[in-house]
Amino acid sequence: MIRLVISNQRGGVSKTTTTTTLAREFADRGKRVLVIDTDPQGSISSVLGLKPEYGLYNFVIEKLRFDDCIVKISPQLHVLCSNRETTKVETILMGNVAREHAFSQLFSQVEKDYDVVLIDVSPSITLLQTCAMVYAERVLIPIGMDTLSFQGAMASIEASKSLNQLLKANIRTVGLLPVMVDRRLAMTTTVLEGLEGLSQGTKIPMLHPIRTDQSVTKAARAAQFIVDYDPKCKAAEDYHQVADELEKLLKEDLNVTAAA
Ligand SMILES: Nc1ncnc2c1ncn2[C@@H]1O[C@H](COP(=O)(O)OP(=O)(O)OP(=O)(O)O)[C@@H](O)[C@H]1O
Ligand SMILES: [Mg+2]
Repeated sequence: MIRLVISNQRGGVSKTTTTTTLAREFADRGKRVLVIDTDPQGSISSVLGLKPEYGLYNFVIEKLRFDDCIVKISPQLHVLCSNRETTKVETILMGNVAREHAFSQLFSQVEKDYDVVLIDVSPSITLLQTCAMVYAERVLIPIGMDTLSFQGAMASIEASKSLNQLLKANIRTVGLLPVMVDRRLAMTTTVLEGLEGLSQGTKIPMLHPIRTDQSVTKAARAAQFIVDYDPKCKAAEDYHQVADELEKLLKEDLNVTAAA
C-alpha cells in the first residue's frame, strides 16, 4: 500500500494535475487507486468534470458511508471529492484531541480496498494538510520553474521535519518533481540547478521532469485525463516515466505491505 501526499506551499504548481495524472497511471497499471481531495477549491472534481453528490465533508463529519461519498471513475479509480464545505471539516477537526491523527483513524478501514492512495492538498499549510501528511507519511513535491515554487518546496520539506519532531511522525519526501519545464528559458536552467543541489543535500531523488505542454490545460478544459485527451503528448510521456520511477522508489513500501 502506497499513500502519497502531493504538496508544495506554492500555489499553481501542478499539484492537482500531478495527482490526477499519476492516479490514472497507477490505475492503468492494475492498481486500485483512491484519490482524496482536501482542497476546498475542489479542483479535482472540476478538472475531471465530476459532479459528486457527497464528498470529504459528508464522510468525515456527517459519517455517511464511504461508498456513498466517493465517485467511481472506473472500477480501479475512486475519488473522494472536496468542495467549499471542506473548510468546515477543518474548523470542526480543530476542536478534536489528537486532531493531526484524524485521517489515520478515518481511513484505516477504507484503505484496505486500495493499493495506492493519492492526496491533493491546498497550497497553504492547513490542518487538513497536516492530517494528510501524518496519515500518508510520504510526500511528493512538484516544483515549478520559479523561485517561489523552489522556496515552497523547501517549506514543505521543513514542515515534514517539524511534524516528525513534534508528533514523532515518520514523514519522508520521496521525490522532487520538476514541472512546467521549458529548457529554452534561463529560469528553468537556474531552478533545475538549484534542485540538483537540493537533491544532493537532502538525498531526496529528483524525478524525471514534466515539460510545459499546452495539452495539459486543454485536457483540463475538456475535463479529461491527459492520457485520454492526447496520449502521445509530452506531458503524458513524462508522467508515464515518473510513474515508473515512483513504482521503483516505492517498491520497498509495496513489498513490506504485501509481506504483512
Ligand atoms: N506541464 C504543464 N504544462 C502546461 N500547463 C500545466 C502543466 N501542469 C499544470 N499546468 C496548468 O497550470 C495550472 C495549475 O495547475 P494545477 O491546478 O495542477 O496546480 P495546483 O498546484 O494544483 O494549483 P493550486 O495551488 O491552485 O491547487 C492549470 O491551469 C494546469 O492546467
Ligand atoms: Mg490544486
